[in-house]
Amino acid sequence: MIGGILRHIELIRDDVQNWKEYPFSIPAVTNLYRLEFHPEVTFLVGENGSGKSTLVEAIAIKSGFNAEGGSKNFTSSHRPSESRLHECLRIARGARREKSGFFLRAETMFNVSTEAEQYSVYGWDALHDKSHGEAFLWVAMNRFHSNGLYILDEPESALSPQRQLALLGRMYQLVRGGSQFIVSTHSPILMAYPGARILLLDRDGISEIHYKDTEHYAVTRAFLQDPERMLKKLFNEIDSEDDK
Ligand SMILES: Nc1ncnc2c1ncn2[C@@H]1O[C@H](COP(=O)(O)OP(=O)(O)OP(=O)(O)O)[C@@H](O)[C@H]1O
Ligand SMILES: [Mg+2]
Repeated sequence: MIGGILRHIELIRDDVQNWKEYPFSIPAVTNLYRLEFHPEVTFLVGENGSGKSTLVEAIAIKSGFNAEGGSKNFTSSHRPSESRLHECLRIARGARREKSGFFLRAETMFNVSTEAEQYSVYGWDALHDKSHGEAFLWVAMNRFHSNGLYILDEPESALSPQRQLALLGRMYQLVRGGSQFIVSTHSPILMAYPGARILLLDRDGISEIHYKDTEHYAVTRAFLQDPERMLKKLFNEIDSEDDK
């Protein structure tokens, strides 16, 4: 696929008023100049609190999504609590313009489906009969289309491993149809998407990392190879701390 829908974002550093305040105080933002997206799939990974949701949200708002999440058609009345980051971003678009899209905020998926149900449009009212994971996968299967822009914050949170594989399959299908994904994740399954760009947010800022060099891969692999050994070591450490 030549070019993407979004090419990169840039932090207009001169527009930042206070580097000591959230969100500019987060190292991933403090050290942000330009972030290049893969034309197909880009993952944002990093510890809890490293700034993934903050960044994902700002990218989504800057791309034209509602801060509350959902497709671009939704204008939610719920009060968003977005940061000011999007006001200091410049976004560079590729040659292709998206024909559809979705911004998934894990914590506001419920609001989105509630609103959709109110208007009862496009069969969205089907969502409330479903579990969180079922609802999200239903949306991905039925409301994600070719040439779409999909910005997803931890989509794995509601999904079983089997459903995460189903999501990977759906992503593959949509990427073949010209869609682009920007996804924050902790899931070693999702981030295995072949050829994806994985961006690690940490104390030093944002850097690209190979799948097998991620902590997610290394820790999961070590754990699954010998769960008993790893747990024994962990609990022994706790016992000896408690005995001190
Ligand atoms: N509205 C806010 N006001 C002040 N600080 C905030 C606000 N929202 C988040 N933060 C702080 O900014 C940092 C980054 O938060 P963010 O939610 O972006 O992290 P994350 O990488 O998405 O974490 P997780 O993996 O737990 O979802 C955290 O230290 C958090 O406490
Ligand atoms: Mg988050």
